[in-house]
Amino acid sequence: MATWSAPGKVFLFGEHAVVYGKMGIAMAIRPRVFVTVRDTKRPSRAKSPYIDSCFEAMGVIGSVYINSQIPSSSGLGSSAAVTVATLAAINDEFNLNKTREDIAAMAFEIEKTVQKGRASPTDTTVSTYGGIVLITGGSRRRLPPQNMHLVVGDSLVSHSTSRMVEQVADLKKRHPEIVDPVLDAIQGVSMSAIHQLSNPRELGRYMNMNNSLLEVLGVGHPQLAKMILASRQAGAFGAKITGAGGGGSMVALCPKQLKHRVAKAIESCDGRAIVTAIDTEGVRKE
Ligand code: PMV
Repeated sequence: MATWSAPGKVFLFGEHAVVYGKMGIAMAIRPRVFVTVRDTKRPSRAKSPYIDSCFEAMGVIGSVYINSQIPSSSGLGSSAAVTVATLAAINDEFNLNKTREDIAAMAFEIEKTVQKGRASPTDTTVSTYGGIVLITGGSRRRLPPQNMHLVVGDSLVSHSTSRMVEQVADLKKRHPEIVDPVLDAIQGVSMSAIHQLSNPRELGRYMNMNNSLLEVLGVGHPQLAKMILASRQAGAFGAKITGAGGGGSMVALCPKQLKHRVAKAIESCDGRAIVTAIDTEGVRKE
């Protein structure tokens, strides 16, 4: 029996812009998904295309038990975390000698297949390696980890990443004169933010700017807007949509002593708040 876990993620900067080759910054966060795999001839497992694909890709049969602390469909990368942890647990239980690089690459292929081509390698990379990851075009680089006090607010409004990506593509086709400069501006925000990762006050301002630009792209939602404004009012340095938008989650960067106040403000807007912080480890054996 082997148990492995992998973290979720937030986009600090650059969602949607990364689809067009611009820079983005994502960070692995608690909570984690825990996956236990057992080599058995009589497999029992949760019905999930991600898990089926993991066993298929590894060419083995076994049973699996999942304990996820990441709410699904909340934009926190739960499917990537499940896939990464399942591959790592299978690798361990069956002694398949795959490296972390192999696991990250296989997890991305699985996400791409299950999500019909609509996956960026961001979630699987962040979940595998942990920390803060800079995404630029096809490449990804880890940035020095920073201790940020974050509160994630799940709007509980369901959204579809692929639909939001399509919606932005459609707007870009109809209004390139507006959307192209907005994508460039998002990249400008990400580039400036890289140099301020250890300065939460400044970083918060960049998050607010990034959020306004996402609103221009049409990926806002009244429920997200309410939670974002409430977080800022409660003292957050900054707050923005994280991930595809149109529902899903927002993230607020807070002074340490105010994170519980910000969480309360989010809950008073009928959102589900998660007080969280960076995960620097990525996928690991439990
Ligand atoms: O909703 P999420 O967390 O899967 O994030 C989507 C981010 C996009 O940039 C909109 C798409 C992508 O694959 O990067």
